[in-house]
Amino acid sequence: MCGIVGYIGYRDAYPILIKGLHRLEYRGYDSAGVALLAGDHKMNIYKSKGKVSNLEESAASKDISGHIGIAHTRWATHGEPSTLNAHPHVSQNGRLALVHNGIIENYSNLKTFLEGKGFTFKSSTDTEVLVQLIQFIQDEYGKDLEGAVVSALRRVTGAYAIAVVDKENPDKIVVARKSSPLVVGIGEDHKEFFLASDALPIVEYTKQMVYLNDGEVALLKVGQKMEIHTLDNEDVDPKIKEVDVNLDTLEKGGYEHFMLKEIYDQPRCISDCIRGRLLADEKKIVLSAINQHRDRLLRASRFIIVACGTSWHAGLIGKQMIEQWAKIPVDVEYASEFRYRKPVIQPGDVVIAISQSGETADTLAAFELAKERGALCFGIVNVVGSSIARASDTGIYTHVGPEIGVASTKAFTGQVMVLTLFALALGHELGSISQMEFEKYVTELSLIPEKMKKVLEQDALTKDISRTLTYARNALYMGRGFNYPVALEGALKLKEISYIHAEGYPAAEMKHGPIALVDENMPVVFVATHHQLYKKILSNIQEVKARNGRIIAIVTEDDEAVKNIAEATIEIPATLPVVAPLLSVLPLQLIAYHVAVFKGLNVDQPRNLAKSVTVE
Ligand code: F6R
Repeated sequence: MCGIVGYIGYRDAYPILIKGLHRLEYRGYDSAGVALLAGDHKMNIYKSKGKVSNLEESAASKDISGHIGIAHTRWATHGEPSTLNAHPHVSQNGRLALVHNGIIENYSNLKTFLEGKGFTFKSSTDTEVLVQLIQFIQDEYGKDLEGAVVSALRRVTGAYAIAVVDKENPDKIVVARKSSPLVVGIGEDHKEFFLASDALPIVEYTKQMVYLNDGEVALLKVGQKMEIHTLDNEDVDPKIKEVDVNLDTLEKGGYEHFMLKEIYDQPRCISDCIRGRLLADEKKIVLSAINQHRDRLLRASRFIIVACGTSWHAGLIGKQMIEQWAKIPVDVEYASEFRYRKPVIQPGDVVIAISQSGETADTLAAFELAKERGALCFGIVNVVGSSIARASDTGIYTHVGPEIGVASTKAFTGQVMVLTLFALALGHELGSISQMEFEKYVTELSLIPEKMKKVLEQDALTKDISRTLTYARNALYMGRGFNYPVALEGALKLKEISYIHAEGYPAAEMKHGPIALVDENMPVVFVATHHQLYKKILSNIQEVKARNGRIIAIVTEDDEAVKNIAEATIEIPATLPVVAPLLSVLPLQLIAYHVAVFKGLNVDQPRNLAKSVTVE
């Protein structure tokens, strides 16, 4: 949550900062702001409530010159979304400007302390306290900017990625991180530096990136090698990583929204995800993570999956596959609960963190806890070089490309595919799945991208069906077995994008409560593709029909029985039941998308949400 971006060098900073903010807007869009250092020790600050485009409009007629600047797009934690609470925040003497992603947990004590020293505050944010503290240290102890930032951060508890500029020293930016991401892009011969919450805003200028680690503070000064120190004043050698991102993936490419593009991208993304891993001709799955940590993985006594939101739903599918094929028990935990409830982690446990962003604060904390307790930490992450990826002992990238729409779509299918490959490979290595069964799945998985295309070809029908859901106030989503987590995911998509209250349930649970909600106004979406519980779910559908519920069903292409009962059906191609979620989730993503568009809502940036949840 919150995105920060910065530039120092020979180019005009403003266009780089604004473009960068647009790329980071998925992290929050409550307000945006920019601080630019121009010549003559001048600092111009512009802020607006709401989106980056509001900031652009309000800054259009103003002085936007300067080769140094920092900028911010906010997801409010402390203080309502307003121009006053927008970053950058400025020190009382007007010298320093600071942008921050994270939470200063002891801000209230620090604020009282600073008020006692005569400081006054304009905003209700925790961030303003930090910039005043840095000024206080500069005034009191005569420290330079880097020294004052280090001293201030030693007094801070909480999470931060910050960038600070000083208009009296318009030749440097000081940045620091703890528990919130920060990456620095290095220009040729150190003639310029870029900084951002992730690589997306800066990758078009440089591929040379340094990911700051927790407790590191860096000085960015033109013409000088980047200097990194820890808060204990130890020197750190910057580790430069080559990062490459296909820039096309950062644009909408003709689609009206990123979400729609990302839904349609899934056949290609899944091909990327399985490339070099699923060798269909040789009937093999090759995962370097398994090769490198063979013993620990094959002898795992239990897997514990920690994740949040959509990634947690993928984890529920992974559990069923690992238990079915590898016969190893799996627990799936909400990371936010796991980290605070003294979980039992035993030698032999392997903890799998699933995360698109690789920055989700709770998932990262749960993972770190597991690491402290000696578990092997296995990451299933999309964003290369992210915090969870770096905290992993080993793992598998989903490789589905940047996901910009706030609602996760291609990340989910990527996670499910990686879990499928992992579970199958594990079962195969352990000899707990027969060679014939293994080969059958390998072949089927290689067909998934083509089958996904077939599902997407029915988008016009899906759109028509979605129209009927537009005026619903509530919806139920039902599934069984592998389709139960798909039902949860469909309900989550609908509520987060179209603001319709939706509940996902295992269909048999319906009789234990939710069926009381069913009447002629209640849409009930059944994920009823062919699998061993098909007959059972058919009875559940009959039960809803008997109570006049409006049934929409996702079915397998040759289905007759459900089609005869349901108000509307969407088909997926026949596939093996275990891998059906990779197909059955697509119509549910499309339904949520179309309903939101019909309602005129902001699909890519739904209210109150941010893509990368870096606060707990
Ligand atoms: C829902 C959604 C969220 C995320 C959750 C975890 O569409 O996007 O529920 O799945 O915030 O995020 P990651 O996967 O980045 O850890």
